[in-house]
Amino acid sequence: MQKNNSPLTLLGNISPKQFFTEYWHKKPLLIRQAIPEFQPLLSKSELFELAAQDDVESRLITFFKKHWEMKNGPISSIPVKEKKDWTLLVQGVNLHNDDANELLKQFRFVPDARLDDLMISYAVDGGGVGPHFDSYDVFLLQAHGQRRWQIGAQKNLSLIEGMPLKILSHFESDQEFILEPGDMLYLPPQYAHDGVAIGECMTYSIGFRAPSFQELGESFMNFMSESIDLPGRYSDPDLKTTTKPAEISTELLTTLSEQIAKIRFTNDDITIFLGEYLTEPKPNVYFDSPEKPLTPKRFEQAALKKGVRLSRKTMMLYKGKHIFINGESFAVTTADKDILATLANQKNLAGSDLLGASPDAMEAFCLWYEDGWLELNP
Ligand code: SIN
Ligand code: CO
Repeated sequence: MQKNNSPLTLLGNISPKQFFTEYWHKKPLLIRQAIPEFQPLLSKSELFELAAQDDVESRLITFFKKHWEMKNGPISSIPVKEKKDWTLLVQGVNLHNDDANELLKQFRFVPDARLDDLMISYAVDGGGVGPHFDSYDVFLLQAHGQRRWQIGAQKNLSLIEGMPLKILSHFESDQEFILEPGDMLYLPPQYAHDGVAIGECMTYSIGFRAPSFQELGESFMNFMSESIDLPGRYSDPDLKTTTKPAEISTELLTTLSEQIAKIRFTNDDITIFLGEYLTEPKPNVYFDSPEKPLTPKRFEQAALKKGVRLSRKTMMLYKGKHIFINGESFAVTTADKDILATLANQKNLAGSDLLGASPDAMEAFCLWYEDGWLELNP
């Protein structure tokens, strides 16, 4: 976690503050040797194994005979290496691999609510996903081999229709770079780019999330539907005869408008919705519970000795007294809030940090441990 604003090698020796002011959402940044002597965190075969799992999101993209095709995972059959122009994309590698999870933590100068995942692409010579733009910021870290990136600030973002993936109908690059292992390219949202492998290569994409207002609004309405409380039922004791039986009466409409106007939501509702929404595990995430969990008493003893850490798949956020973890929310006391906020920020608590935890907090830790959301430190 970034504690201060000092220059980072990762950002080419500029501070996160300078990065946000000059580049974030504004212009690309090429960082040579952002991670000096970077080595791939997973071998090619480990990546292929992940792509074959059904709890992992993966895609195989081919451009055989100049024809784009995309197959969604699980991908169990990989084209032969000798064949050119294909790439395998594996999403959310941080959820399945400790080193990938640690790498993502280097990007926590951006808040967790915005950080999405680590995607790894493997490509053979000529492989890529075609010229496109993304709706999110991205850091493209070269992990193995070389990739030629062509990028352009074009305004025309129209796409070729009927394609299985987003391909720009006109792509004009104004800059070109060849990235070597350890080099990294930051691209703001909507920036046109095309990365083509020069020989076999692996690229790590550190992606961000920016839900659309429409998606947030629809999810909020869904969330609120669970708490709406409108007692009573429409009645019309003074109903009169009508010559237009098909017409909806003004009285019926007015009554409904009055009732709908009673539906209210507070800032607390919005806070709880947002925290639950942002920490909700993705649909293919399954937590690994301990095979032989300790009893609550033994768990407490072990936790006080070793400390605890959030599991790789756990997302924990907080705002004020509200704590959010994996789609659930709790309102906590001030004393517990400090401990839980430390756990969320550090993703780890030392045994000594747990001394002040209330019985309620300790019980929650034990339940999270049983569910595989939290682990004892090794
Ligand atoms: C890739 O790694 O091949 C694609 C990454 C991207 O263009 O966003
Ligand atoms: Co892209």
